[in-house]
Amino acid sequence: MSNVYRFDRRSFLKQAGIAAVAGSLGTATSIQAQENGASRSSGSGYNFDEIYNRIGTDCSKWDGQIERWGEQLKIPMGVADMDFRVAPAITDALKKRIDHEVYGYMAVPDSYRDSIVNWNERRYGTVIERDMLQSSPALLPGLLAALRAFNPPGAKVVMQTPGYNGFFSTIRKGFVIEENPLREVNGVYEMDFDDLDRKLAQDDVHTFILCNPHNPVGNCWDRATLTELGELCARHNVIVLADEIHCDFVNAGQEYVPYANLADDLVMNSVTFKSASKSFNLAAFKDAYMFSHNPEFMSRIRAVGDNATVNSLGMIGSQAALEDGDDWMDALQVYLSDNAAYASAFINEQIPHMSCNRPEGTYLAWLNVEPLIERIGAVETAAAETAARGPDQDEVTPEMIAERYLIETSGVKLNPGSAYWGSGRMRMNLGLARPLLEEALGRIQGAMQQA
Ligand SMILES: Cc1ncc(COP(=O)(O)O)c(C=O)c1O
Repeated sequence: MSNVYRFDRRSFLKQAGIAAVAGSLGTATSIQAQENGASRSSGSGYNFDEIYNRIGTDCSKWDGQIERWGEQLKIPMGVADMDFRVAPAITDALKKRIDHEVYGYMAVPDSYRDSIVNWNERRYGTVIERDMLQSSPALLPGLLAALRAFNPPGAKVVMQTPGYNGFFSTIRKGFVIEENPLREVNGVYEMDFDDLDRKLAQDDVHTFILCNPHNPVGNCWDRATLTELGELCARHNVIVLADEIHCDFVNAGQEYVPYANLADDLVMNSVTFKSASKSFNLAAFKDAYMFSHNPEFMSRIRAVGDNATVNSLGMIGSQAALEDGDDWMDALQVYLSDNAAYASAFINEQIPHMSCNRPEGTYLAWLNVEPLIERIGAVETAAAETAARGPDQDEVTPEMIAERYLIETSGVKLNPGSAYWGSGRMRMNLGLARPLLEEALGRIQGAMQQA
Protein backbone atom coordinates (compact mmCIF):
# COMPACT_ATOMS: atom_id res chain seq x y z
CA MET A 1 0.00 0.00 0.00
CA SER A 2 1.36 3.37 -0.92
CA ASN A 3 1.51 5.82 1.91
CA VAL A 4 0.49 8.67 -0.31
CA TYR A 5 -2.85 9.35 -1.86
CA ARG A 6 -5.12 12.23 -2.68
CA PHE A 7 -7.34 13.06 0.25
CA ASP A 8 -10.69 11.46 0.08
CA ARG A 9 -12.30 11.10 3.44
CA ARG A 10 -13.94 7.75 2.87
CA SER A 11 -10.93 6.15 1.25
CA PHE A 12 -8.73 7.58 3.99
CA LEU A 13 -10.80 5.98 6.69
CA LYS A 14 -11.05 2.77 4.71
CA GLN A 15 -7.33 2.51 4.08
CA ALA A 16 -6.77 3.35 7.70
CA GLY A 17 -8.86 0.36 8.64
CA ILE A 18 -11.46 2.55 10.30
CA ALA A 19 -15.14 2.36 9.40
CA ALA A 20 -16.60 5.60 8.07
CA VAL A 21 -19.33 7.03 10.25
CA ALA A 22 -22.76 7.19 8.66
CA GLY A 23 -24.15 10.69 8.30
CA SER A 24 -20.68 12.12 8.20
CA LEU A 25 -19.95 15.78 8.62
CA GLY A 26 -18.85 17.93 5.73
CA THR A 27 -15.37 19.36 5.61
CA ALA A 28 -14.75 22.88 6.77
CA THR A 29 -13.23 24.85 3.97
CA SER A 30 -14.74 28.30 4.30
CA ILE A 31 -11.88 30.09 6.00
CA GLN A 32 -8.63 30.45 4.13
CA ALA A 33 -5.43 31.49 5.83
CA GLN A 34 -4.68 35.07 4.96
CA GLU A 35 -1.71 36.10 7.05
CA ASN A 36 1.15 35.70 4.63
CA GLY A 37 -0.70 34.77 1.50
CA ALA A 38 1.45 31.71 0.91
CA SER A 39 -0.10 29.29 -1.51
CA ARG A 40 -0.16 25.76 -0.24
CA SER A 41 -0.13 24.24 -3.66
CA SER A 42 2.67 26.16 -5.28
CA GLY A 43 6.05 27.61 -4.57
CA SER A 44 7.95 25.53 -2.10
CA GLY A 45 7.96 22.25 -3.98
CA TYR A 46 6.99 20.39 -0.80
CA ASN A 47 3.44 19.16 -0.69
CA PHE A 48 2.45 19.30 2.96
CA ASP A 49 -1.19 18.84 1.92
CA GLU A 50 -0.45 15.21 1.17
CA ILE A 51 -2.14 12.85 3.62
CA TYR A 52 0.49 10.38 4.70
CA ASN A 53 -0.85 7.28 6.37
CA ARG A 54 1.01 6.48 9.59
CA ILE A 55 -1.37 3.81 10.82
CA GLY A 56 0.25 0.44 11.33
CA THR A 57 3.68 1.85 12.16
CA ASP A 58 3.25 1.61 15.95
CA CYS A 59 3.34 5.38 16.18
CA SER A 60 2.09 6.84 19.46
CA LYS A 61 -0.02 9.54 17.84
CA TRP A 62 -2.19 7.29 15.68
CA ASP A 63 -1.74 3.63 16.63
CA GLY A 64 -1.35 4.31 20.34
CA GLN A 65 -4.52 6.38 20.45
CA ILE A 66 -6.55 4.00 18.27
CA GLU A 67 -5.54 1.22 20.64
CA ARG A 68 -6.73 3.29 23.57
CA TRP A 69 -9.95 4.70 22.15
CA GLY A 70 -10.91 2.16 19.51
CA GLU A 71 -12.45 2.81 16.14
CA GLN A 72 -14.35 5.88 17.25
CA LEU A 73 -11.02 7.73 17.11
CA LYS A 74 -10.65 9.21 13.63
CA ILE A 75 -8.17 12.08 13.84
CA PRO A 76 -5.66 12.26 16.69
CA MET A 77 -4.43 15.78 17.46
CA GLY A 78 -2.64 14.98 20.70
CA VAL A 79 0.95 13.68 20.74
CA ALA A 80 3.35 16.44 19.68
CA ASP A 81 4.79 15.14 16.45
CA MET A 82 3.81 15.90 12.87
CA ASP A 83 2.23 13.80 10.14
CA PHE A 84 4.42 15.11 7.30
CA ARG A 85 7.06 13.12 5.47
CA VAL A 86 10.55 14.18 6.48
CA ALA A 87 12.75 16.44 4.36
CA PRO A 88 14.12 14.50 1.37
CA ALA A 89 17.72 15.16 2.47
CA ILE A 90 17.09 13.12 5.62
CA THR A 91 15.79 10.08 3.75
CA ASP A 92 18.68 10.29 1.28
CA ALA A 93 21.29 10.40 4.04
CA LEU A 94 19.69 7.52 5.92
CA LYS A 95 19.45 5.36 2.80
CA LYS A 96 23.10 5.95 2.13
CA ARG A 97 24.05 4.95 5.66
CA ILE A 98 21.86 1.86 5.58
CA ASP A 99 23.80 0.62 2.55
CA HIS A 100 26.64 0.08 5.00
CA GLU A 101 25.28 -2.82 6.99
CA VAL A 102 27.11 -2.46 10.28
CA TYR A 103 25.83 -0.39 13.20
CA GLY A 104 28.56 -0.68 15.78
CA TYR A 105 29.63 1.92 18.34
CA MET A 106 30.16 5.38 16.93
CA ALA A 107 31.99 8.53 17.86
CA VAL A 108 30.27 11.88 17.47
CA PRO A 109 31.90 13.33 14.34
CA ASP A 110 32.92 16.97 14.13
CA SER A 111 30.72 17.33 11.06
CA TYR A 112 27.69 16.57 13.26
CA ARG A 113 28.70 19.20 15.81
CA ASP A 114 29.37 21.65 13.00
CA SER A 115 25.89 21.12 11.59
CA ILE A 116 24.44 22.21 14.96
CA VAL A 117 26.84 25.15 15.28
CA ASN A 118 26.09 26.34 11.75
CA TRP A 119 22.31 25.92 11.95
CA ASN A 120 22.12 28.02 15.10
CA GLU A 121 24.47 30.66 13.71
CA ARG A 122 22.87 30.80 10.28
CA ARG A 123 19.25 30.91 11.41
CA TYR A 124 19.39 32.66 14.78
CA GLY A 125 22.77 34.35 15.06
CA THR A 126 23.60 32.19 18.09
CA VAL A 127 27.31 31.58 18.49
CA ILE A 128 28.15 28.13 19.85
CA GLU A 129 31.60 26.55 19.99
CA ARG A 130 31.93 22.85 19.30
CA ASP A 131 33.25 22.04 22.75
CA MET A 132 30.24 23.65 24.45
CA LEU A 133 28.03 20.96 22.93
CA GLN A 134 26.89 17.73 24.48
CA SER A 135 24.66 15.16 22.78
CA SER A 136 21.92 13.46 24.70
CA PRO A 137 19.53 10.62 23.92
CA ALA A 138 16.49 12.93 23.52
CA LEU A 139 16.00 16.25 25.25
CA LEU A 140 14.48 15.10 28.53
CA PRO A 141 17.39 12.80 29.51
CA GLY A 142 19.70 15.79 28.96
CA LEU A 143 17.47 17.97 31.11
CA LEU A 144 17.45 15.32 33.83
CA ALA A 145 21.26 15.17 33.74
CA ALA A 146 21.33 18.93 34.29
CA LEU A 147 18.86 18.70 37.18
CA ARG A 148 21.09 16.08 38.77
CA ALA A 149 24.20 18.16 38.17
CA PHE A 150 22.85 21.32 39.79
CA ASN A 151 20.48 20.06 42.51
CA PRO A 152 20.82 17.92 45.60
CA PRO A 153 18.14 15.20 45.77
CA GLY A 154 14.78 16.59 46.83
CA ALA A 155 15.47 20.16 45.71
CA LYS A 156 12.65 22.27 44.28
CA VAL A 157 12.77 22.97 40.54
CA VAL A 158 10.79 25.99 39.35
CA MET A 159 8.76 25.70 36.16
CA GLN A 160 5.88 27.64 34.67
CA THR A 161 2.38 26.31 34.35
CA PRO A 162 0.48 25.48 32.26
CA GLY A 163 3.63 23.58 31.33
CA TYR A 164 4.91 20.65 29.31
CA ASN A 165 3.98 17.43 31.11
CA GLY A 166 7.39 15.89 30.35
CA PHE A 167 8.86 18.45 32.75
CA PHE A 168 6.62 17.16 35.53
CA SER A 169 7.77 13.57 35.08
CA THR A 170 11.42 14.56 34.67
CA ILE A 171 11.47 16.75 37.79
CA ARG A 172 9.77 14.01 39.78
CA LYS A 173 12.75 11.72 39.18
CA GLY A 174 14.34 12.92 42.40
CA PHE A 175 13.14 16.50 42.77
CA VAL A 176 10.03 18.51 43.58
CA ILE A 177 7.98 20.70 41.23
CA GLU A 178 7.76 24.33 42.30
CA GLU A 179 5.08 25.96 40.21
CA ASN A 180 5.27 29.53 38.90
CA PRO A 181 1.85 29.88 37.25
CA LEU A 182 1.63 32.02 34.13
CA ARG A 183 -0.97 34.78 34.36
CA GLU A 184 -3.69 34.89 31.73
CA VAL A 185 -4.73 38.46 31.02
CA ASN A 186 -7.47 38.87 28.41
CA GLY A 187 -6.56 35.53 26.91
CA VAL A 188 -2.84 36.32 26.72
CA TYR A 189 -0.34 34.53 28.93
CA GLU A 190 2.40 36.46 30.69
CA MET A 191 4.99 35.73 33.35
CA ASP A 192 4.21 36.56 36.97
CA PHE A 193 7.52 37.99 38.17
CA ASP A 194 6.34 38.75 41.72
CA ASP A 195 5.43 35.13 42.25
CA LEU A 196 8.63 34.03 40.52
CA ASP A 197 10.73 36.25 42.79
CA ARG A 198 9.25 34.55 45.85
CA LYS A 199 9.74 31.06 44.43
CA LEU A 200 13.34 31.67 43.38
CA ALA A 201 14.23 33.15 46.77
CA GLN A 202 13.84 29.79 48.53
CA ASP A 203 17.06 28.14 49.73
CA ASP A 204 16.27 24.81 48.11
CA VAL A 205 15.74 26.25 44.60
CA HIS A 206 18.76 26.06 42.27
CA THR A 207 17.26 25.66 38.79
CA PHE A 208 14.48 27.16 36.70
CA ILE A 209 13.13 25.48 33.54
CA LEU A 210 12.23 27.89 30.76
CA CYS A 211 10.18 26.76 27.77
CA ASN A 212 10.54 28.99 24.70
CA PRO A 213 8.47 28.85 22.54
CA HIS A 214 6.17 27.67 25.26
CA ASN A 215 4.43 24.31 25.17
CA PRO A 216 1.45 24.36 25.61
CA VAL A 217 0.39 28.04 25.59
CA GLY A 218 2.35 28.93 22.44
CA ASN A 219 4.14 32.12 23.60
CA CYS A 220 7.41 33.20 22.01
CA TRP A 221 8.93 35.10 24.92
CA ASP A 222 10.35 38.47 23.90
CA ARG A 223 13.78 39.82 24.79
CA ALA A 224 12.54 42.13 27.56
CA THR A 225 10.67 39.31 29.28
CA LEU A 226 13.61 36.93 28.97
CA THR A 227 15.99 39.57 30.29
CA GLU A 228 13.81 40.32 33.31
CA LEU A 229 13.51 36.60 33.96
CA GLY A 230 17.24 36.07 33.53
CA GLU A 231 18.15 38.91 35.88
CA LEU A 232 15.81 37.56 38.53
CA CYS A 233 17.32 34.09 38.26
CA ALA A 234 20.87 35.45 38.35
CA ARG A 235 20.06 37.57 41.42
CA HIS A 236 18.87 34.44 43.23
CA ASN A 237 21.73 32.24 41.95
CA VAL A 238 19.27 30.05 40.11
CA ILE A 239 20.49 28.47 36.86
CA VAL A 240 18.25 28.82 33.79
CA LEU A 241 17.66 25.60 31.87
CA ALA A 242 16.22 26.80 28.57
CA ASP A 243 14.23 24.21 26.62
CA GLU A 244 14.01 25.62 23.10
CA ILE A 245 12.98 22.45 21.29
CA HIS A 246 10.09 24.28 19.56
CA CYS A 247 12.30 27.15 18.36
CA ASP A 248 11.92 26.44 14.65
CA PHE A 249 8.14 26.87 14.82
CA VAL A 250 7.47 30.57 14.89
CA ASN A 251 4.32 31.93 13.34
CA ALA A 252 4.17 34.89 10.95
CA GLY A 253 5.00 38.19 12.62
CA GLN A 254 6.54 36.55 15.71
CA GLU A 255 10.14 36.10 16.81
CA TYR A 256 12.07 33.48 18.72
CA VAL A 257 14.77 35.01 20.91
CA PRO A 258 17.35 32.39 21.91
CA TYR A 259 18.30 32.60 25.57
CA ALA A 260 21.92 32.32 24.45
CA ASN A 261 21.52 35.62 22.56
CA LEU A 262 20.88 37.65 25.73
CA ALA A 263 23.52 39.63 27.62
CA ASP A 264 26.70 37.69 28.43
CA ASP A 265 26.21 37.52 32.19
CA LEU A 266 22.75 35.98 31.73
CA VAL A 267 24.00 33.54 29.10
CA MET A 268 26.75 32.39 31.46
CA ASN A 269 24.03 31.43 33.93
CA SER A 270 22.23 29.13 31.52
CA VAL A 271 22.17 25.86 29.64
CA THR A 272 20.15 25.54 26.41
CA PHE A 273 18.49 22.30 25.29
CA LYS A 274 17.56 21.72 21.67
CA SER A 275 17.05 19.05 19.08
CA ALA A 276 16.42 18.61 15.39
CA SER A 277 13.90 15.98 16.39
CA LYS A 278 10.94 18.29 16.99
CA SER A 279 11.70 20.52 14.01
CA PHE A 280 12.24 17.73 11.52
CA ASN A 281 9.96 15.06 12.97
CA LEU A 282 12.67 12.66 14.11
CA ALA A 283 11.48 12.14 17.70
CA ALA A 284 11.95 8.37 17.78
CA PHE A 285 15.57 8.73 16.63
CA LYS A 286 16.46 9.85 20.14
CA ASP A 287 19.02 12.48 19.39
CA ALA A 288 19.21 15.88 21.08
CA TYR A 289 21.86 18.30 22.28
CA MET A 290 22.58 20.86 24.94
CA PHE A 291 25.15 23.59 25.26
CA SER A 292 26.34 26.23 27.67
CA HIS A 293 28.81 29.07 27.36
CA ASN A 294 29.74 28.28 30.94
CA PRO A 295 32.35 25.47 30.80
CA GLU A 296 31.90 24.64 34.46
CA PHE A 297 28.21 23.94 33.86
CA MET A 298 29.01 21.59 30.99
CA SER A 299 31.57 19.65 32.98
CA ARG A 300 29.15 19.26 35.88
CA ILE A 301 26.51 17.90 33.50
CA ARG A 302 28.99 15.60 31.77
CA ALA A 303 29.99 14.21 35.15
CA VAL A 304 26.49 12.84 35.75
CA GLY A 305 24.98 12.48 32.24
CA ASP A 306 24.63 9.47 29.99
CA ASN A 307 27.21 10.86 27.58
CA ALA A 308 28.21 7.65 25.83
CA THR A 309 24.78 7.20 24.34
CA VAL A 310 24.57 8.26 20.72
CA ASN A 311 22.31 6.82 18.08
CA SER A 312 23.99 6.47 14.70
CA LEU A 313 20.87 6.90 12.58
CA GLY A 314 19.65 9.69 14.83
CA MET A 315 22.85 11.63 14.34
CA ILE A 316 22.80 11.08 10.59
CA GLY A 317 19.18 12.19 10.35
CA SER A 318 19.80 15.29 12.46
CA GLN A 319 22.94 16.24 10.58
CA ALA A 320 21.25 15.91 7.19
CA ALA A 321 18.35 18.01 8.46
CA LEU A 322 20.53 20.76 9.87
CA GLU A 323 22.85 20.83 6.86
CA ASP A 324 20.28 20.61 4.07
CA GLY A 325 16.88 21.21 5.62
CA ASP A 326 16.60 25.01 5.39
CA ASP A 327 14.24 25.11 2.41
CA TRP A 328 12.00 22.42 3.84
CA MET A 329 11.86 24.18 7.20
CA ASP A 330 11.14 27.56 5.61
CA ALA A 331 8.24 26.06 3.67
CA LEU A 332 6.96 24.16 6.69
CA GLN A 333 6.99 27.29 8.85
CA VAL A 334 4.74 29.06 6.37
CA TYR A 335 2.44 26.06 6.18
CA LEU A 336 2.14 25.67 9.95
CA SER A 337 1.67 29.39 10.45
CA ASP A 338 -1.20 29.22 7.97
CA ASN A 339 -2.60 26.18 9.79
CA ALA A 340 -2.55 28.17 13.04
CA ALA A 341 -4.24 31.18 11.43
CA TYR A 342 -6.86 28.99 9.80
CA ALA A 343 -7.59 26.91 12.92
CA SER A 344 -7.82 29.82 15.34
CA ALA A 345 -10.11 31.79 13.00
CA PHE A 346 -12.33 28.79 12.36
CA ILE A 347 -12.58 27.87 16.04
CA ASN A 348 -13.37 31.42 17.12
CA GLU A 349 -15.85 32.17 14.35
CA GLN A 350 -17.53 28.86 13.67
CA ILE A 351 -17.28 26.48 16.61
CA PRO A 352 -19.50 27.02 19.64
CA HIS A 353 -18.37 26.33 23.23
CA MET A 354 -14.66 26.86 22.67
CA SER A 355 -12.19 29.57 21.68
CA CYS A 356 -8.53 29.85 20.91
CA ASN A 357 -5.75 32.40 20.75
CA ARG A 358 -3.55 32.16 17.74
CA PRO A 359 -0.28 30.68 19.02
CA GLU A 360 2.89 32.74 18.47
CA GLY A 361 5.06 29.66 18.18
CA THR A 362 4.97 25.84 18.35
CA TYR A 363 2.47 23.90 16.24
CA LEU A 364 0.16 23.58 19.22
CA ALA A 365 -3.04 25.51 19.85
CA TRP A 366 -4.30 26.04 23.38
CA LEU A 367 -8.07 26.04 23.48
CA ASN A 368 -10.37 27.48 26.10
CA VAL A 369 -13.11 24.86 26.54
CA GLU A 370 -14.67 26.21 29.72
CA PRO A 371 -18.08 26.67 28.02
CA LEU A 372 -18.01 23.06 26.81
CA ILE A 373 -17.08 21.80 30.28
CA GLU A 374 -20.01 23.74 31.70
CA ARG A 375 -22.40 22.60 28.99
CA ILE A 376 -21.75 18.88 29.38
CA GLY A 377 -21.53 18.96 33.19
CA ALA A 378 -17.94 17.74 33.06
CA VAL A 379 -17.07 18.97 36.56
CA GLU A 380 -19.81 16.85 38.13
CA THR A 381 -19.05 13.82 35.96
CA ALA A 382 -15.35 14.05 36.78
CA ALA A 383 -16.06 14.26 40.51
CA ALA A 384 -18.38 11.24 40.37
CA GLU A 385 -15.90 9.18 38.36
CA THR A 386 -13.05 10.13 40.67
CA ALA A 387 -15.09 9.07 43.70
CA ALA A 388 -16.00 5.77 42.04
CA ARG A 389 -12.33 5.03 41.33
CA GLY A 390 -11.26 4.96 44.95
CA PRO A 391 -8.66 6.89 46.92
CA ASP A 392 -5.43 5.47 45.45
CA GLN A 393 -6.34 6.17 41.84
CA ASP A 394 -5.54 9.23 39.74
CA GLU A 395 -8.16 11.95 39.66
CA VAL A 396 -10.50 12.16 36.66
CA THR A 397 -10.52 15.79 35.57
CA PRO A 398 -13.22 17.81 33.77
CA GLU A 399 -10.78 18.22 30.88
CA MET A 400 -10.53 14.42 30.60
CA ILE A 401 -14.31 14.24 30.42
CA ALA A 402 -14.23 16.87 27.65
CA GLU A 403 -11.54 14.86 25.85
CA ARG A 404 -13.70 11.73 25.93
CA TYR A 405 -16.80 13.67 24.91
CA LEU A 406 -15.02 15.09 21.87
CA ILE A 407 -13.76 11.69 20.79
CA GLU A 408 -17.18 10.11 21.18
CA THR A 409 -19.03 12.87 19.34
CA SER A 410 -16.50 14.01 16.73
CA GLY A 411 -13.82 11.33 16.52
CA VAL A 412 -11.15 13.97 17.16
CA LYS A 413 -8.71 13.65 20.03
CA LEU A 414 -7.27 16.67 21.78
CA ASN A 415 -5.10 16.48 24.88
CA PRO A 416 -6.77 17.48 28.16
CA GLY A 417 -5.34 20.70 29.58
CA SER A 418 -5.14 19.16 33.03
CA ALA A 419 -2.15 17.12 31.79
CA TYR A 420 -0.33 20.47 31.67
CA TRP A 421 -1.98 21.89 34.80
CA GLY A 422 -4.22 24.02 32.62
CA SER A 423 -7.76 24.14 33.91
CA GLY A 424 -10.57 24.47 31.35
CA ARG A 425 -8.14 24.10 28.45
CA MET A 426 -7.23 21.55 25.79
CA ARG A 427 -4.22 21.27 23.50
CA MET A 428 -4.66 20.79 19.77
CA ASN A 429 -1.76 19.64 17.55
CA LEU A 430 -1.75 21.50 14.23
CA GLY A 431 1.14 19.53 12.70
CA LEU A 432 -1.01 17.82 10.10
CA ALA A 433 -2.07 18.19 6.48
CA ARG A 434 -4.59 20.97 5.89
CA PRO A 435 -7.29 18.71 4.42
CA LEU A 436 -7.17 16.63 7.58
CA LEU A 437 -7.21 19.76 9.75
CA GLU A 438 -10.28 20.96 7.87
CA GLU A 439 -11.90 17.58 8.38
CA ALA A 440 -11.12 17.63 12.10
CA LEU A 441 -12.45 21.14 12.63
CA GLY A 442 -15.60 20.31 10.66
CA ARG A 443 -16.16 17.28 12.85
CA ILE A 444 -15.70 19.29 16.05
CA GLN A 445 -17.99 21.99 14.70
CA GLY A 446 -20.73 19.45 14.00
CA ALA A 447 -20.36 17.90 17.44
CA MET A 448 -20.41 21.25 19.20
CA GLN A 449 -23.53 22.33 17.33
CA GLN A 450 -25.25 19.27 18.81
CA ALA A 451 -23.82 19.67 22.32
C1 LIG B 1 8.98 21.51 25.42
C2 LIG B 1 9.37 20.08 25.13
N1 LIG B 1 10.52 19.61 25.62
C3 LIG B 1 10.90 18.34 25.40
C4 LIG B 1 10.11 17.48 24.66
C5 LIG B 1 10.52 16.04 24.50
O1 LIG B 1 11.69 15.94 23.80
P1 LIG B 1 12.43 14.54 23.69
O2 LIG B 1 11.46 13.57 23.12
O3 LIG B 1 13.59 14.82 22.81
O4 LIG B 1 12.85 14.17 25.08
C6 LIG B 1 8.91 17.94 24.13
C7 LIG B 1 8.04 17.03 23.36
O5 LIG B 1 6.91 17.30 23.09
C8 LIG B 1 8.53 19.27 24.38
O6 LIG B 1 7.38 19.77 23.91
